[in-house]
Amino acid sequence: MIQIGVIGSGAMGAGIAQVAATVGHSVVVYDNNQAALDKAKSNLETTLKKLIEKQKLTEQSAKEISARIQFVNDLNQFKSCGLVIEAIIENLEIKQKLFLELETIVSDDCILASNTSSLSIASIASACKKPGRVIGIHFFNPAPLMPLVEIIPSLLTDDKIISESKKIIDSWGKVTVLTKDTPGFIVNRVARSYYGESIRIYEEGMADFATIDWAMKTFGGFKMGPFELMDFIGNDINFKVTESVWTQFFYEPRFKPSLTQKRLYEAKLFGKKSGRGYYNYVEGAVIPEPNKNEELGKYIFNRVISMLINEAVDSYYLKLASKEDLDLAMTKGVNYPKGLLKWADEIGLQNAYNTLDVLYELYNEERYRPSILMKMMLKDNKKFYE
Ligand SMILES: NC(=O)c1ccc[n+]([C@@H]2O[C@H](COP(=O)([O-])OP(=O)(O)OC[C@H]3O[C@@H](n4cnc5c(N)ncnc54)[C@H](O)[C@@H]3O)[C@@H](O)[C@H]2O)c1
Repeated sequence: MIQIGVIGSGAMGAGIAQVAATVGHSVVVYDNNQAALDKAKSNLETTLKKLIEKQKLTEQSAKEISARIQFVNDLNQFKSCGLVIEAIIENLEIKQKLFLELETIVSDDCILASNTSSLSIASIASACKKPGRVIGIHFFNPAPLMPLVEIIPSLLTDDKIISESKKIIDSWGKVTVLTKDTPGFIVNRVARSYYGESIRIYEEGMADFATIDWAMKTFGGFKMGPFELMDFIGNDINFKVTESVWTQFFYEPRFKPSLTQKRLYEAKLFGKKSGRGYYNYVEGAVIPEPNKNEELGKYIFNRVISMLINEAVDSYYLKLASKEDLDLAMTKGVNYPKGLLKWADEIGLQNAYNTLDVLYELYNEERYRPSILMKMMLKDNKKFYE
C-alpha cells in the first residue's frame, strides 16, 4: 500500500489522515503550525476512543490506526509518499508555493492533490514543474463521515493520474464522482439555489425562516431546512462560498449573494458555532413556529426545487459530470433525499419548467431562465432515466 501524505492538520487534513490510516495506509501529516499538529494528534486519540466506546473499532485496530499516522514538522519526510493531499489555508499563492516545494521532495510518480473548495485546480497545477500529476480530490466535512469525494482533473492532468486517484479513493470506501474544474465543482455549485432562493423568498416577505425550513422538510423530505443547514455549516463559510462561486462565474445572476447573508456574516452571526445565526441557539431561546399553510409550503418547495433542478440540468448540459454522478454528488455530499435529475423525472420536467417560466416572466430576471436542455428535452418528451 502506498504511503499517503497530508498537508495541513486542520479540520479537513486530520479527517483525511484518519480515513487513509483506517483503511491501512501509513500516513504522514505535516502542518507549519506545531500547535495545530499537537491538536490534531490529541483530537485523533479522542475520536478513536469514542469509536471504541461506540464499538465501531476494537482497541487493537484503534492502536494500529494511531500507529500508522506520523505527525511531522518537516516536509522532507514526504519523500516516499505515493499520494499527497494538500488541505492548508485557502490561498492560491501559498498553495502554489507549497506544491513547488513538494515537487523538489517527492518522487516523479507521486500524485499531488489539492482539497481546495474554491480555487481552480488549473491555477495550482500551472505553478508546478509537472502539472500533469496535479489533481483535485475534494472531501466533505467531516471527511471520515461524509461518503462523497469529488475528483477534479485540470486541463493539464494526465489521464493516468485521474484513474489512479479514483482507484485509490474508491478503495477507501468513498463514493467518487468525476467533475470538471469549474467553480464550486458539483456540490458547492448545484446546492447554491437551496440557500439563495430560500433567502430570496424570505427577503420578499413571503415567509420566515421557520416556515421555509418546514416547507422544504415537509414537502421535499430534506433532512435540514436551508436556514438550519446554513446555521450548521456556518454563515461565514456559506457566504464566502456563495461570493466565490458568483464572482468566478463572472457574476452569473443565479449565484448572486444576498444582503441578508452578508449582514449576518458582518455581524458575526455565524450560526450554531457562534450561538446565533438565522436562529438563536442560546439556552432558553424561543424556537419560532412555522406557518403551516399548505399552499404556501408547496409554493416554497416548488420554487426552490425548480431552481435546484434547473442548476443540475444546466450542469448536465454543460457536461460538468454524468447524470449519475450529478445525482450521487447531491445525495452523498449534502444528504439530499434524491438526486435532482431523478427528482426532475419524478415531478415532471414540465412542472419545474413552468415554475421557472412564471418566475422569469414575473421578475424579468436572468436568474430564473430555464436551462436550454429543459426546453430541448421537453420538445422531445424525454426523461433523464428512461
Ligand atoms: N472546512 C470545510 O468544510 C472544507 C471542506 C472541503 C474542503 N475544504 C478545503 O480544505 C482546505 C483546508 O480547510 P480546513 O477547513 O481544514 O482549514 P483549517 O483552517 O481547519 O486547517 C488548515 C491548516 O493548514 C495549516 N497551514 C496553513 N498554511 C500552511 C502551510 N503553508 N503549510 C502547512 N500547513 C499550513 C494551518 O496551520 C491549519 O492547521 C481548504 O483548502 C478548504 O477550502 C474545507
